[in-house]
Amino acid sequence: MKEIKAFIFDLDGVITDTAKYHYKAWRRMANELGFDFTEEENEQLKGVGRMESLEKILQWGGITLPEEEKKRLADQKNQWYLEYIQDISPNDLLPGAREFLLATRDAGIKSALGSASKNAIPIVEKLGVLHFFDALIDGNKAPKSKPDPQVFLLGAEALNAKPEECIVFEDSLAGIQAAKNGGMHTVGIGYMLPPDVADFHAGSLEFLTPSIVITEVLKHST
Ligand code: BG6
Ligand code: MG
Repeated sequence: MKEIKAFIFDLDGVITDTAKYHYKAWRRMANELGFDFTEEENEQLKGVGRMESLEKILQWGGITLPEEEKKRLADQKNQWYLEYIQDISPNDLLPGAREFLLATRDAGIKSALGSASKNAIPIVEKLGVLHFFDALIDGNKAPKSKPDPQVFLLGAEALNAKPEECIVFEDSLAGIQAAKNGGMHTVGIGYMLPPDVADFHAGSLEFLTPSIVITEVLKHST
């Protein structure tokens, strides 16, 4: 019998909906540079690190810039993003997130945060769910952008779990690929993912329990 020992949660789009603020801030930057990009294009930025996201956006706008200007733009975007999220509170948790984290702890399953964001830890603190996590891996600790599995492998290691003992909860394609590249099971959260990319899909963490998730995921693994 396969054993699941740990759950690893992405932040943006799984625990809270900060993705809309990333989009708003990047769009503001693009608009100042004289172009725009769509919500569909924005999907490609989910789970992707700050500088990698900037590179993609500049490519869409057909813009080439020196490194120091790119750094200035990334800093400016982050400043706007921080302004948008400054009042974030437990009210901004996605439906079922708190309950699921609590049920995970009660079931004796270890939890880690596995986020590409360098702002992840202060956000989790403001959401009031920091204490649910046994390990916190953010974009500062894991510089390699998803789909590289680094962020999740560091999470598994911190929880003393093997990759095959972990289930990753992700809303982005890059994140699902990162988990698969790391040899982990996957739960796709939200409706933006293509069908069947994850072992199991759900609209949100609402109505899920750790045992439902484990049963469904293991049905799909060989
Ligand atoms: C991810 C988001 O969680 O973090 C991406 O899905 C974002 O959209 C990335 O680019 C990096 O975030 P930050 O806060 O370090 O700029
Ligand atoms: Mg995400």
